[in-house]
Amino acid sequence: MKVIIVKNYEEASQKALEVMLGVIKNKPDANLGLATGSTPKRLYELMREDHKVNGTSYKKIKTFNLDEYFGLSQDHPQSYYYFMCTNLFNELDINMDNVHVPRGSGDIDKECKNYNQLLKDNPLDIQLLGIGSNGHIGFNEPGTSFDSVTHKVDLKESTIKDNARLFFNGNIDEVPKQAVSMGIANIMDAKKVLLIACGENKAEAIKATIDGKQTIDMPASVLQNHDDCIMIIDEAAARLLETR
Ligand code: F6R
Repeated sequence: MKVIIVKNYEEASQKALEVMLGVIKNKPDANLGLATGSTPKRLYELMREDHKVNGTSYKKIKTFNLDEYFGLSQDHPQSYYYFMCTNLFNELDINMDNVHVPRGSGDIDKECKNYNQLLKDNPLDIQLLGIGSNGHIGFNEPGTSFDSVTHKVDLKESTIKDNARLFFNGNIDEVPKQAVSMGIANIMDAKKVLLIACGENKAEAIKATIDGKQTIDMPASVLQNHDDCIMIIDEAAARLLETR
């Protein structure tokens, strides 16, 4: 793992932009694995700005999102599909046929199977990740097998609370209790992994991920085994690291 410690969220987002654009410039038809949540918001804003100002094109890019809430349709304002459109895709020249977010409704078993096949047919050049305060990546909660592929998950209480705090107007009853997520094996298959972690509430998970032993109880610790994993961490999230 290559650990880069930066001052704050803004620096982390700028650094992440460099990595992302590096992949796109090197391969204009790259397959990007994308994430939602509060962490990548500034990065997506910077990507939009870069597209506008520098003309980086997404015409040949394909995207594959990590996860989606179970039971929310794509046009629900809290769905991850909607999040991606409003935070990124609507302002890029991307072909929406090349945008893939797992569907959280309909025949879920079939959806998971199709998504796994899609990922097999389109190996990811980079997978962007945030990290849960409990160490989840995607919605792979503690206890998820490292061999897992796209599956339906039960969200942990802490994740539901975190997500209510940041989204859903703080209303915990509105947060879906289940989701569909790429599995840990799908994430590990990406050629490059870029994890961004910012803020005090990520410090314990980051310490366990980097300094701790590999265990399914800390899903992000699996990344210790990835050949090309970059972690961009701000000072607050890096606070407990031994190797700073
Ligand atoms: C989002 C995802 C999650 C988030 C994580 C951190 O697609 O898969 O793993 O990255 O929950 O969320 P934030 O960035 O809101 O702290």
